[in-house]
Amino acid sequence: MSELLDYLAVGAGPANLSLAAQAEAHPGTTGLHLDRRERPAWHPGLLLPDATLQNSPFKDLVTPVDPTSRFSFLAFLAAKGRFYQFLTARFPAVHRAEFNQYLGWVADQLGDTVRYDHDVTEVRFHGDHFETETSRGTFRSRHLVLGAGPQPYLPPVLEGATGPAVFHSSEFVQHAEALAGRRVAVVGGGQSGAEIVRHLLVGQARPEQVTWVSRRPGFLPLDESAFTNDLYLPEAAQDFFGRPREQRAALLAEQKYASDGVNEGLLAELYRIVYLTSHVEGRPELIRLLPGHEVAGLAERADGLRLELKSDGAETAVDCDAVVLATGYVQQLPQCLGALTGRLRLEDGLPVVREDYSVEWDGPDGHRIYLQNGARHAFGITDPNLGLLAWRSRVILDSIRTNGGS
Ligand SMILES: Cc1cc2nc3c(=O)[nH]c(=O)nc-3n(C[C@H](O)[C@H](O)[C@H](O)COP(=O)(O)OP(=O)(O)OC[C@H]3O[C@@H](n4cnc5c(N)ncnc54)[C@H](O)[C@@H]3O)c2cc1C
Ligand SMILES: NC(=O)c1ccc[n+]([C@@H]2O[C@H](COP(=O)([O-])OP(=O)(O)OC[C@H]3O[C@@H](n4cnc5c(N)ncnc54)[C@H](OP(=O)(O)O)[C@@H]3O)[C@@H](O)[C@H]2O)c1
Repeated sequence: MSELLDYLAVGAGPANLSLAAQAEAHPGTTGLHLDRRERPAWHPGLLLPDATLQNSPFKDLVTPVDPTSRFSFLAFLAAKGRFYQFLTARFPAVHRAEFNQYLGWVADQLGDTVRYDHDVTEVRFHGDHFETETSRGTFRSRHLVLGAGPQPYLPPVLEGATGPAVFHSSEFVQHAEALAGRRVAVVGGGQSGAEIVRHLLVGQARPEQVTWVSRRPGFLPLDESAFTNDLYLPEAAQDFFGRPREQRAALLAEQKYASDGVNEGLLAELYRIVYLTSHVEGRPELIRLLPGHEVAGLAERADGLRLELKSDGAETAVDCDAVVLATGYVQQLPQCLGALTGRLRLEDGLPVVREDYSVEWDGPDGHRIYLQNGARHAFGITDPNLGLLAWRSRVILDSIRTNGGS
């Protein structure tokens, strides 16, 4: 029988990597972090060369709660021998490709406590421990930490329509080359949509036409202004947690663009690209902007696809060869939770989460199920982002250690 671990963590994306890096300082606490990917990779389907981080690199896996940790972004720069050059380069924002290297470097440092190529297929509870079944063996633990990340969101009218010509932005990289010379519709006015539109327009092999559709009334910026950024304080998440449910929903809508708008720099760059293409290159037909339009359906035609849209009650359509759905993500409980899902307490279909990020369930309190990046409804718009991820892992680790972990 396998060793009884203090906790088993499903997923080794940034959230559970942060937990692993912080747990390393407590050798008495035994945890295992499993990921189905073959190797560390941070949203590889949208890892475009020009894409940058939306936050300071100091909001890494550890620095906000332990600036002396050997797993910081600064430690990574020094270990790689590029600290001075990094400073001299004065990047306005760190490239996602470099942060991805940092995450992989942390995973490598953590050795056997982080394992890839382990697909968690089912979790069961046996009265005094969780049993986690994976593609490479079964593990037993006192607690469970779910860090499987959000799932791609597809508009319901397009579910079932996906394939090589209609795909989510999370799969963009593998389809990108095939879009050269085609008529491409990009749906979604968030950061993913904006990055994809830029990539399509600045590449050597451009599409014949790019139509950018956004349900939002315009192409709206990320609000990174000084006072708004205070939403990324632990106290703000705690304050949100303390609010009544009805208020929380209203606040989420109000604060949306502090998380889900487009970087101002990227918006400005896109504007210039559109200007140059239309007025200097003389090809205004290359890019069409359709803000304020929602997807209503998709029809196959002899000569391609027809993306049906509605706007203020009026219907319109875009004829195209491919549709990229940059329609965002949704937090949901991972499928591997299986029958345990039915044992969680839900309100309005969402898990009820306690202040230590554990969910309420009908099992014994000494065996907790923690939710990383699954409680935007309880902790606010920052929950899916990197900003408070190190702090959240610290809260979870402290709870594990006071509930039976050493
Ligand atoms: C393209 C993109 C860029 C982003 N950039 C930023 C940014 O700059 N700043 C910011 O604050 N936020 C950003 N975000 C938000 C993003 O959610 C966080 O940066 C971060 O990835 C969240 O980490 P996570 O570990 O919770 O989830 P994920 O990164 O999604 O990791 C979840 C992991 O769980 C694994 N997994 C899932 N199911 C299983 C299973 N059954 N068994 C084993 N493993 C499993 C997956 O393989 C994955 O590795 C970005 C999001 C996207 C899509
Ligand atoms: N480089 C980076 O740092 C980077 C890159 C990518 C993503 N991210 C982050 O990751 C998170 C997700 O970003 P995202 O751009 O993938 O998702 P997102 O911000 O949620 O944007 C999704 C977009 O799709 C639209 N949409 C959804 N359903 C639609 C429909 N039926 N018809 C038309 N439009 C529809 C949404 O409109 P509504 O707003 O009206 O719902 C929204 O404009 C964000 O926090 C983002 O900042 C960061």
